[in-house]
Amino acid sequence: MDNIGPDNWPPNCSYEAARAHFVTALVDLGIEREEARREAELALQHVTKMAAHELLLNAKAVLSVAHAGTLAEILEQRRRRVPLQYVLGETYFCGLKFAVGPGVLIPRADTETLVVAAGDYIKSKSPVSLLEVGAGSGAIVISLLKQFPQLVATAFEISPQAAHFCRINAICHGVAERLTLIEEDYLEGLAKLGSSKHFDLILSNPPYVPLAVASTLAPEVIAHEPRLALVGGGPDGMGFYRNFAKHLPSLEATAHAALIVEFGDGQADAVKELFELAGWGELQLWSDLGGRPRVLTSSGWQW
Ligand SMILES: C[S@@+](CC[C@H](N)C(=O)[O-])C[C@H]1O[C@@H](n2cnc3c(N)ncnc32)[C@H](O)[C@@H]1O
Repeated sequence: MDNIGPDNWPPNCSYEAARAHFVTALVDLGIEREEARREAELALQHVTKMAAHELLLNAKAVLSVAHAGTLAEILEQRRRRVPLQYVLGETYFCGLKFAVGPGVLIPRADTETLVVAAGDYIKSKSPVSLLEVGAGSGAIVISLLKQFPQLVATAFEISPQAAHFCRINAICHGVAERLTLIEEDYLEGLAKLGSSKHFDLILSNPPYVPLAVASTLAPEVIAHEPRLALVGGGPDGMGFYRNFAKHLPSLEATAHAALIVEFGDGQADAVKELFELAGWGELQLWSDLGGRPRVLTSSGWQW
C-alpha cells in the first residue's frame, strides 16, 4: 500500500503510465481489476477533463505535476476506502451526471431497471402524476423527468443531506420546477397531503439490506454510505414493502396508484408474496442486466 502515497507517484509519467499505476494501486487494495480499470478511467477523465478518446490519443503525453498530485490525492482517499464517486463528487446514472457525496446513496446501475419499468408505464398511461419514496440523489425521478418533459413529480426524502443533493441535481438538470421535494418521512407526509394530491404511480428503491447482510458489504459501502439508505428497512430489510402494501391503499393521495419497487437480490419471492397476500394486482417481476429479478410492478391495490 506504500506505493500509492503522493511521494511515490512515478515522476514524469505518461497518461498511460498513470493509468497503470492507478490500477495497480487499487488492485493492491483488494479491488477487482475490472473495477480498478473503470475507476482509473473515471479518475483520469475527471482530473484531466479529457474524454476517453482524447486520453487514448494522448496516451504517451506527460501528465502535468498538478494532475499527478490530484490523482495521488484521489488514491490516498481510496486507500481509506472512500468511494470514488464521493471523492470525485459525481457519478453517472441513465447516462446523466449526478452530484453525490457523503450522506447520499450512490445510485447503482441496477436501479436503471426500475427507470425502464417506470418509463414503460408512463408511455402507456400518460399523463402520469408521479411519486417517489426515498429520492436520495434524485437519480430515478430526475432521469424520468428528463425523459418525459410533460411529467410532474413529488418526492419524499427523510435525510436532509440526501435532499440537498437531490435539490442540486434537479437544478443542474433543469427539472426543479417540475419536482416537489418534501423533506419528511413519507408516511407522515402523505397523510398530511390528504386529498390535495392524487398520484398515479409510486416508485421506490427503499432501504432493503437485511441487518445480517450489512456487515458483509464492501468497506466503501458500509463505512461510508448512509446507514439509513441501506438498512432502514429493519432486521429483514422488508419493512418498507410491508408498510407500502398495508398503508398506501388507505391514504387518499395514493389509494389508486400503481407501484414499482426495487428489492435486493434474493428477495423477489418474499416481496411478491407479501404484495399478493395484501391484495395488490397484476404483479410482474423485472430482471436487471444480470438476469436477476430486482423490480416488482403492480397495477395497484385491487378493490
Ligand atoms: C436505497 S436509498 C435510494 C435512493 C435513490 N432513490 C436511489 O435509488 O439511488 C433509499 C432512500 O430512502 C430514504 N428514506 C429512508 N427512510 C425514509 C422515509 N421514512 N421517508 C422518506 N425517505 C426515506 C433514505 O434516506 C435514502 O435516501
